[in-house]
Amino acid sequence: MKKRILTGDRPTGQLHLGHYVGSLKNRIEMQHSHEQFVMIADAQALTDNYDHPEKIRSNIFEVMLDYLAVGIDPSKSTIFIQSQIPQLFELTFYFLNMVTYNRLKHNPTVKMEMQQKGMEETVTAGFMIYPVSQAADIALFGGEVIPVGADQMPIIEQTNEIVRRFNSVYHTDVLKEAQPLLSLCPRLPGADGKAKMSKSLGNALTLSASFKEIEEVVKKMYTDPAHLRVEDPGRVEGNVVFTYLDAFDPDLNRVKELKDHYQRGGLGDMTLKRHLMQVLENCVAPFRENRERLKQNPQMVLDLLQEGTSRAKKEGQRKLEEIKDAMRINYRLDHFSTMR
Ligand code: TRP
Repeated sequence: MKKRILTGDRPTGQLHLGHYVGSLKNRIEMQHSHEQFVMIADAQALTDNYDHPEKIRSNIFEVMLDYLAVGIDPSKSTIFIQSQIPQLFELTFYFLNMVTYNRLKHNPTVKMEMQQKGMEETVTAGFMIYPVSQAADIALFGGEVIPVGADQMPIIEQTNEIVRRFNSVYHTDVLKEAQPLLSLCPRLPGADGKAKMSKSLGNALTLSASFKEIEEVVKKMYTDPAHLRVEDPGRVEGNVVFTYLDAFDPDLNRVKELKDHYQRGGLGDMTLKRHLMQVLENCVAPFRENRERLKQNPQMVLDLLQEGTSRAKKEGQRKLEEIKDAMRINYRLDHFSTMR
């Protein structure tokens, strides 16, 4: 039997190249050998955007376009909208009993986000418990393999703690532990080489970036500040242009030659950057074209989302029954015996 994948993204904007190397690439490959569920995590996105539901609403469509444009194939992967699966909310409520309040306060991913978003004082209960809801996402769809970025590791760990606790409290094995699947590529830095590529930091290239946008970002890219003249030897470590070539240039030998040449001296930053611009253009151009084409037919895109969501709802209901049986709370009110 094929192993299950459950994965997803918050629809807070279009997806970018960081998403592509961090997890989309894995999902595109794995959908052939796995049974994959891809969730547009709108309810999770609302935990810190509850005052802007329209932003999340419109980005559901954008993220769906991104998925289809990069090659997540709706005949192989079930793509669905989180908020439309009520079973997820029910399971979240039961899972909240499987974790201490104290443990939630110490989740490193949540702590980091609170700090980045300046909500140490104003954090809502909904945001604090989103890792529990994420555990429910994974458990309800029986996710065994989770292709995500490295920042999600503590959440997967917490999911497995909840799963173990649940299985032990209810003497069952209905729930399976999940394994993160990380990208082979290290996290993609922003053009300045410091922070990661991220929409909120304004250093991200979307999956439909124009060649002009690619040029602008690559031009600004941090290289080796000591590499002043073309004939000087340059450094490859910490050089963002090479980090991107490692992630995007399919020709590994060529990357190796460029690195050797740069280190020997004689390879100018602008020549190198021109090459990267072309490599990124080769990657993004098909996505951009697919996206444009899909946008011409929004009804088809929505139909696919509707189909995936119906399929997910059925699967969610099936699994929830199993889970409630294990908890012995699947009362049948018409059968008094099951109530005693
Ligand atoms: N937390 C993920 C993100 O910020 C989105 C997400 C929600 C997710 N539920 C998930 C990822 C379940 C993997 C599995 O991008």
